[in-house]
Amino acid sequence: MPEATGRLVAVANLKGGSGKSTLAVHLAGVLGERGWRAILLDADPQHTAYLWAKRVRLPADAERQPLGSIVDARRWVVQLLGLLSEYDFVVLDLPSVIGPAVASALLLGHVVLVPVPPAAVDVEGTQRTLRYVRSAREARTGAPPMVRLVPVRIANGHDLSALCARLAVFGEPLALPLGEYPELAACFADGVWIGSDSRFALARQAFDRLAQLVEGLATGAGEPPLVARARRLEVPPAAKTVRPLRHLAPGAAATPRRGFAWLATLWRRLPKGTGRPSAPVRG
Ligand SMILES: Nc1ncnc2c1ncn2[C@@H]1O[C@H](COP(=O)(O)OP(=O)(O)OP(=O)(O)O)[C@@H](O)[C@H]1O
Ligand SMILES: [Mg+2]
Repeated sequence: MPEATGRLVAVANLKGGSGKSTLAVHLAGVLGERGWRAILLDADPQHTAYLWAKRVRLPADAERQPLGSIVDARRWVVQLLGLLSEYDFVVLDLPSVIGPAVASALLLGHVVLVPVPPAAVDVEGTQRTLRYVRSAREARTGAPPMVRLVPVRIANGHDLSALCARLAVFGEPLALPLGEYPELAACFADGVWIGSDSRFALARQAFDRLAQLVEGLATGAGEPPLVARARRLEVPPAAKTVRPLRHLAPGAAATPRRGFAWLATLWRRLPKGTGRPSAPVRG
């Protein structure tokens, strides 16, 4: 198999409706427009993101590849590695349920983006997601995932410092917030994306910043200065006991040696030292 030199950007939050698909579709499109070979990979059995991407002719490819059962994980990972050898960025839209797709993504992802709307800050789903992120960090032997909480749907005039203080308890760095853009709501129904026309200019700017952050993290070039400033709000990870990994995969409780631990073993066997996309492939 050719070397998997691409970067996996997993968009995860177990809180349903937190903005994962919206983020994944537009980010993949913007990365494509910025000259990267990008693909949106939809692992949600509902396929919303995939159908949307196909409909709007996103400047990125799109595929759907749900992973419902742990027994299919090996094949799924091999397919993912195939995509990572073809593309600079695979933007993975995940379902809101814990299972092998989320577990694999946390074990394999280079960048993990967790969209957090203000209303979801205290919600159990986000906390659970970040517990699994910490478990995955412990299980990984190679470079840990680069995690960013992405505050989304932040309305004009929202008290950002209060929001950041609330998010700080999660112990993960923040990306610059994405605003509340009511015009995004009809994108799927209207068959458009933020690159389609000028009515999305504001949202477009925010997604450009997010794409720059992802590029900076993925290529090792560092983060854009604005993001670096925002990250001053970080606090050290909370000293919490990491939950057993076996919680991560269905059926794992009955067979603790399978499930997430099995995926961790698989991950360790994957080729090490994969390269980094160093420049956009244009034209
Ligand atoms: N920045 C934003 N501004 C305004 N509306 C947004 C924004 N991001 C997402 N939304 C809206 O929030 C709703 C949920 O978004 P989305 O479907 O992307 O969430 P999800 O996490 O993928 O949901 P699910 O868990 O069902 O897969 C949609 O109606 C979407 O249009
Ligand atoms: Mg979704």
